[in-house]
Amino acid sequence: MSGNIVWHSHPVNSRDRAAQKSQAPLVIWFTGLSASGKSTIAGALEQILTQQGYHTYLLDGDNVRHGLCGDLGFGDADRSENIRRVGEVAKLMTDAGLITLAAFISPFEQDRKIVRDILPEGQFVEVFVDATLAVCRERDPKQLYAKADRGEIKCFTGIDSPYEAPRNPEVRIDAGRLSVAEAVNQLLAYLHASGALKAGYQPLTIAS
Ligand code: ADX
Repeated sequence: MSGNIVWHSHPVNSRDRAAQKSQAPLVIWFTGLSASGKSTIAGALEQILTQQGYHTYLLDGDNVRHGLCGDLGFGDADRSENIRRVGEVAKLMTDAGLITLAAFISPFEQDRKIVRDILPEGQFVEVFVDATLAVCRERDPKQLYAKADRGEIKCFTGIDSPYEAPRNPEVRIDAGRLSVAEAVNQLLAYLHASGALKAGYQPLTIAS
């Protein structure tokens, strides 16, 4: 940070903004391999939270890389910078009183910890969307694993770029086995049990 910059406190603060929305701000951070289901689960959770009257925003890796992080690639340093920027944006969104969902591979433990540490205590929920590389390869919805195998994409997570699985996530989703609705219900149950959401939620109906 350059010098001669002094923090300015404004009359409306984060507590006022959260109170106006009748909710406690939170960052729900989804990490996992490409095609593990992060964005899909985050989107489904956001949908039900919105239906239940919560104020949310979903930051999604592929989308953010179209704009804010469009100048970044997939080398280690660029991935760290991607997560640093998104972490700062998520922090601003919690300051705005929002429940922010973030879906990023975020392969490095240290980068995820930095985001946790810049947020107020208790406002970071790490969700490990845990699907094996074999499952993600099998899904391969964007054919990116196939391209990486052919050498057409370099530094692909799980192929020639590392993924450090969270050791103590708040929530681990068995994403190779659970449906999206089951994963959302697991998250809703956690968020209610931890006091992050108000009482009286309806679980999603699970299609058999
Ligand atoms: S992160 O590692 O910096 O957190 P981020 O979540 O923003 O990654 O972006 C991942 C998305 O970019 C993937 O879902 C995939 O669609 C696309 N992508 C393109 N190239 C790569 C690559 N080399 N490794 C991983 N994902 C890639």
